[in-house]
Amino acid sequence: MTASSLSFRLAVVFALSGMAMGIGMAMSQNHSIMPAHAHLNLLGWVSLFLFGIYYERRPRLNASKLALVQVILWSAGTVVLAGAVAAIHLGYKAADPLAGLASLIVLAAMLLFTYFVSRPAISLGGAHGAHTGRVDF
Ligand code: HEM
Repeated sequence: MTASSLSFRLAVVFALSGMAMGIGMAMSQNHSIMPAHAHLNLLGWVSLFLFGIYYERRPRLNASKLALVQVILWSAGTVVLAGAVAAIHLGYKAADPLAGLASLIVLAAMLLFTYFVSRPAISLGGAHGAHTGRVDF
C-alpha cells in the first residue's frame, strides 16, 4: 500500500470519529472533550489528508517505506493524543504523561515529514517527474 492511500483511508476514519464525537458533544450538551475533538479532526482528518495529497504528487516518495512509517507514526500519535486529551478533560489527570508522550510521537512524525519536504532527492519523481526523472521542486 502506498503512503497516500493509507493517509486517505485513515483520514476518513478520523473524520467519521471526529464528527461522531462532535455530534455526541452536541447531543449531550457537554463540550468538555472539545479539545480532543478538535485535535482528532485537525491532526487526523485535515493534516493526514494533506500529507496524502503531498505523497500522491511524489510517486517515488509515495512508494517508500519511510513515508509509510511517517503516516503510521502520525496516526498512532494522533489516536493516543486525542484519547489522552479527552481523558484529561474528563478529569483523569493521570493521562497527562501519555499526552506528553503522544505529542512527542506526533512531533517526530512531523520532523520526518519536514525531512521529506526539505530533501529534494527523496522527492524525486513528482507528478511529471516519474516520467522525466527531474526533481519536482
Ligand atoms: C458532525 C460534525 C461536527 C460536529 C457535530 C462538531 C461539533 C462541535 C462542537 C459541539 C464543538 C464545541 C463548541 C464549543 O464548545 O464552543 C466543536 C468544536 C470544534 N470543532 Fe467541531 N464538530 C464537527 C466537525 C468538525 C470538523 C470536521 C472539524 C475540523 C476539521 C472540527 C473542528 C473543531 C474545532 C477546531 C473546535 C474548537 C473550536 C473552539 O476552540 O472554539 N469540527 N465542534
